[in-house]
Parts: sequence; structure tokens; C-alpha cells
Amino acid sequence: MESAIIRTEGVTRCFPSGRETIYALKDVGITIEPGTLTILRGRSGSGKTTLINLLGALDRPTSGKIYFNGNEITRMSEAQRDELRRKEMGFVFQSIALISMMSAYENVEFALRVAGYKASERRQRAEECFAFVGLTKRMHHRPGELSGGEQQRVAIARAIAHRPRVVFADEPTAELDTHTGLQVVKVFKNLVEKEGLTVVMTTHDPSMVEIADRVYTLEDGEIVDEQ
Ligand SMILES: Nc1ncnc2c1ncn2[C@@H]1O[C@H](COP(=O)(O)OP(=O)(O)O)[C@@H](O)[C@H]1O
Ligand SMILES: [Mg+2]
Repeated sequence: MESAIIRTEGVTRCFPSGRETIYALKDVGITIEPGTLTILRGRSGSGKTTLINLLGALDRPTSGKIYFNGNEITRMSEAQRDELRRKEMGFVFQSIALISMMSAYENVEFALRVAGYKASERRQRAEECFAFVGLTKRMHHRPGELSGGEQQRVAIARAIAHRPRVVFADEPTAELDTHTGLQVVKVFKNLVEKEGLTVVMTTHDPSMVEIADRVYTLEDGEIVDEQ
């Protein structure tokens, strides 16, 4: 058994563009250990979103292999990948896609309902998740009444509610100022340390990288540095 929760081997992702081919990723090999915060950093266009979408089984590479918990997801059917995503993965995006007509609490409760949790379990788990992200006092507000940083913490509460093993966050701090962004990353770090969650996030902000356990730097679709 390998210890990595995610591992890629020679992953390349091309997009046809007219008569040319854009190599969004070239021969990427990375390893993500469980219970760590990994940051994928790089300038705009360096391949971060393409890579995190592949790790989260939202897309397939042109060539190469990706393993999740020892199983090769690049060999799985669409249905198997759907199930893996639903059960083992959580997602947080740059623009916060909360349902504006529902309170923060209802957003998380709804996600638990979709995940098949019983009514009696939903309340306890939702409250627990708001405690994890430090928003217990604000959880009955609607998203529009919360700051950007608070909304992103609600999105994190929703992403972790169904107890995924890995949370993927694509530029979760891009729309926040640096101070608020750091607070959001610290919420992730805390979940990693206290709950043993595995977090993979992308950023182009160099000030975030000190908090990470592992940092991969991308340039033109290639990993150029690993710390
Ligand atoms: N669906 C697509 N079709 C064509 N080109 C794409 C597509 N997605 C990404 N690319 C290209 O791949 C490169 C990497 O993009 P992306 O992964 O979005 O970078 P980042 O998230 O680091 O800004 C860019 O040159 C981008 O234009
Ligand atoms: Mg991107």
C-alpha cells in the first residue's frame, strides 16, 4: 500500500486550439500525502486550474495516470468517478457559489441532505462544521449579510460537511484581500491539523505559501519547483 492519497505520473493535458495544440500541463508528477495542506502556485495561465480539476476527477488527462488512495482514477468509468467525487471529495471555488435565498446554515444542511444524511444527523453535523470554521454566531445569516471571507468560510463548511477525505480549493482567496485570504487559508490549515483533512489549493499569491506543508510551483504547465 502506498502512503499517498493522490499521486500523478506523467500527466499531460492538451487542448486543441485551431491548428495548434496548447499543452496546459506537461509531464506532471506530484504526490499528495494525507493530512497535509498542499499549495499549487503559479502565474495566471500556468496550469493550476487544469491540474486541480484533474486531481478532483472533474477532467481527464490526455495522457498519464492519476491515483486516488491507490486506485487509478484515470481508468474509472464516469459513474465511478462521480461516486468518488461525491463521497471522498469536497470543492471550494474562487467565486463563492452559495444559495443566496438560504441562510448559511441552510446551505450546509442542504448539502448534507443531498449527501443522504438523516434529519437528526444533519443538524449536529452542520453545527459542528460551523464551529470548525469559526462561524457559529453568524450561521443563521444569509450569504448577502456576510463578508467575503465569512462567505468563503461557509463554502468551506459546506465542502467538508459530508466528511470528504480531500478538499480541493481553486484560488479560494483570489477575491479577498491578503489579510482575509490568510484567515481562510488558516481555516484550512486548522482542519488539516485538527481533523486530519487533506487540502489541495491553488493560488497566485506568494504570501500564502508559508502556511503550506508542500508547495508545487507551476510554470507553463510544468512543475518547476517543489518545497
Ligand atoms: N478548456 C480549455 N481550452 C483551451 N485552452 C485551455 C482550456 N483550459 C485551459 N486552457 C489553457 O491552458 C493553460 C492553463 O490554463 P489554467 O489551467 O486555467 O491556468 P491557471 O489556472 O494557472 O490560470 C492556459 O494557456 C489556458 O489558456
Ligand atoms: Mg485558474
